[in-house]
This record gives sequence, C-alpha cells and structure tokens, in this order.
Amino acid sequence: MTEDIKKGLLGIVVDETEVSKVMPEINSLTYRGYAAQDLCAKCKFEEVAYLILNGELPSEKQLKNFEKVERKERNLSKILLESIKNFPKKSHPMDVARTAVSIMGLEDKETKDNSPEANLRKVMRIFAKTPVALAAFYRIRKGKKIIKPKSNLSFSENFFYMCFGKVPEKEIVKAFDVSLILYAEHSFNVSTFTARTITSSLSDIHGAITGAIASLKGPLHGGANEEVMHMMNKIKKPENALNWINNALDQKAVVMGFGHRVYKSGDSRVPTMREYFSKVAKVKKDKKFEKIYDIVEKVMIERKNIHPNVDYPTGPTYHLMGFDTDFFTPIFVISRITGWSAHILEQHAANKLIRPLASYIGSSYRKVVPINQR
Ligand code: CMC
Repeated sequence: MTEDIKKGLLGIVVDETEVSKVMPEINSLTYRGYAAQDLCAKCKFEEVAYLILNGELPSEKQLKNFEKVERKERNLSKILLESIKNFPKKSHPMDVARTAVSIMGLEDKETKDNSPEANLRKVMRIFAKTPVALAAFYRIRKGKKIIKPKSNLSFSENFFYMCFGKVPEKEIVKAFDVSLILYAEHSFNVSTFTARTITSSLSDIHGAITGAIASLKGPLHGGANEEVMHMMNKIKKPENALNWINNALDQKAVVMGFGHRVYKSGDSRVPTMREYFSKVAKVKKDKKFEKIYDIVEKVMIERKNIHPNVDYPTGPTYHLMGFDTDFFTPIFVISRITGWSAHILEQHAANKLIRPLASYIGSSYRKVVPINQR
C-alpha cells in the first residue's frame, strides 16, 4: 500500500498553540500577538520571558516579582557545581547544558509534580540556573575561577559578568538582550516539538528540556549559528568571500545560516538582528565580518533565492561580543527555555499522546530459525 508520506512532517499541522505565530499580514514572528521586533524595541528580555510564560506582558510590579524569583534561583547546588567542575574540559557546552538540566531534575523536589503551578516554579529554576551552569563551565575550562552570579544585575548583564568578570558597554548588553528576545520562541520547530513529544507521555519538564537541548544542538537547527562562524573563519577576509561562496554553491554545499522551513522569502527576525550586529561591530571597531556577511548574503539571494535566517547575524555578533564559538548555541538555549516551557505547559493542559504512524518497507513475514540452524 502506498501511503501519502510527509517526510519531516512537511506542511502538517499537528496541534494548536497560543504561544507564537508567524503573521504574514505583518510579515513578522509574533509572541502572544506581539511582533518580535516591537518587543525588541520596547522591552527587556525578562519582560518577554514573562510574556511567553504567562501570556501577557508584565506590569512593573509583576516584572519586579519575576526578576526577584529569577535572581533568587540563580545559585547552583553543590552537586551541580561539583559535577560541572568534573566534566571533561573538552565537552561541548551544549552537552554541558543538557547534562546540567538533567542533574537539576535529579535534585528538584518537584520533579514528579506536573501541575501548572509546580511546572512554572521548575521553569524559573531551570531558567535561572542554566546560564549560571554554562558560565561556570566557560570559566572552568579556561582554568579560571568561577564567578558567582550577582543579584543586582539583569539576566543579560549577569551572563556577561559570570563569563568575563565585567558587564560590557550598554549597546552590547542591548544587542545580547535583543538576540535572546529573537531566539525565545518559534512555534513547532524541531526542539519544541521534541519537548512537546516528551511531555505527551506525561514525562517531566526537566526531561523535556533535556531532550529539547539535544535537538537544538544539531546544525540544521540551533547549531547553525556556530557553523556560520566556522564558515566566516574559513573565509577569513572579505576579499575571499565572493570566491568562497561561489565555489561552495558550485559544489552544492548547504550554506549554514540560510534557508528556513517556514520563511521562504526571508526570516522576519533577520533585519532586527542585522541592525544590532552592526551596532556591535561599530562598538568593537571591527567591520570585517559585516563585509563578509553582505557578500555571502548577496550571492545566496542572487544565485539561489535563499535568504538568511536569524542564525546568520547572531553568529558573528556573539563572536564580536567575545564568546567562544561553541557557546553560541548554548546562548540560544538560555533564551529558548522560555518558549519550550510555554509549550510544555500548553501540552500538559490539553495533552494527547504524540504517536505517529510509519509506512513499513521492511522484510515480509518470516519464521525465526533457531540459532544453531542459521
Ligand atoms: N544552502 C544551500 N541550499 C539550501 C539551503 C542552504 N542553506 N537551504 C535550502 N537549500 C536548498 C536545498 O538544497 C533544496 O534544494 P533542492 O530542492 O535543489 O534539493 C531546497 O533549497 C529546499 O531545501 P530543504 O532543505 O528541502 O528545505 P527544508 O525546509 O527541509 O530545510 C533548513 C530548511 C533550515 C533545514 C535548510 O534550509 C538548511 O539546511 N539550512 C542550513 C541550516 C540552518 O541555517 N539552519 C537554521 C534554521 S533556522 C533557525 C533555527 O532553527 O536554528
């Protein structure tokens, strides 16, 4: 029997969501009805995290409470801290993030409680502790002393402080905040769908986020921002960019940071992130990557009509901010925890076990021959 197979679930609507939507009428990704670029212009990341998790933008008082909880939950347990100190120094930080969230699940007193109230409390712990765990690993693997989080710093400021020992210029912090807002949520992408699939068996939130991190790591998803930087490093200088990209396309290479399953004529997050990439390049007085960026983008559009996705500008932006390349996707994680969690809550609220079918193309029926007769 030939069944109509939609490989990669291409074009298949599997459920409903209230969290986000790409609205063609305004050509924008929206969170709970608000355009992502509007949120970037008018909000800090914590406000958007609150919006994604709670459905509405916070009042000043609600934001204060939200920040208070996040800041209070930043400290790591002894077990988690000791574990991070003992992780192999060569571990990929995405694997560190995945393992850290898994360890949090071992320790959390409410791991088994899937009520919305308990899940929101667990989200706040995962949301607050994951950046601290990553920053600790960032320092340890360089042989540097771990820097404890500071409760008078914002989410973004604190991440810079824990990694580098200081808070950078306000333009850099804002650009980082904007990248977190743009990365926070994107409907049924592969990592979110992974989180929802895990949740659909009524498993716990730590497990769902652990699985989502593993899924985000791949280069066709979040790992693309790291691959973009590897590509730019291979190109080395703007003078090489034209030849490099033309050769890559002649060889039918997949160029990282381009293309998207949902956007076919441009990712609506790119213009905002491109603008902040430029601001960071200006502060850092380094225009090299912007020049490479523009040449590669032009050729991709001219020759393939394929536009950049948000991983294209975030890659070089994080590099200019001073982060190691393998920390780019973990930064995506610390933001996307909000989107994943909103979907996990939504899945629990109207759950149906996710269990698709497959068209069987294996051997026809056969009898087992005992081992001594094979
Ligand atoms: N470079 C070169 N060709 C491409 C690219 C690219 N980046 N993206 C798509 N194409 C071509 C592809 O080869 C195919 O051509 P043909 O029809 O001749 O075989 C056609 O465009 C359709 O592509 P597809 O892979 O079937 O489309 P998809 O919707 O399954 O894939 C994608 C979307 C994101 C996996 C793909 O565009 C890709 O591999 N991009 C590079 C990785 C990347 O940047 N990922 C980040 C995604 S967005 C943010 C995130 O989730 O992190």
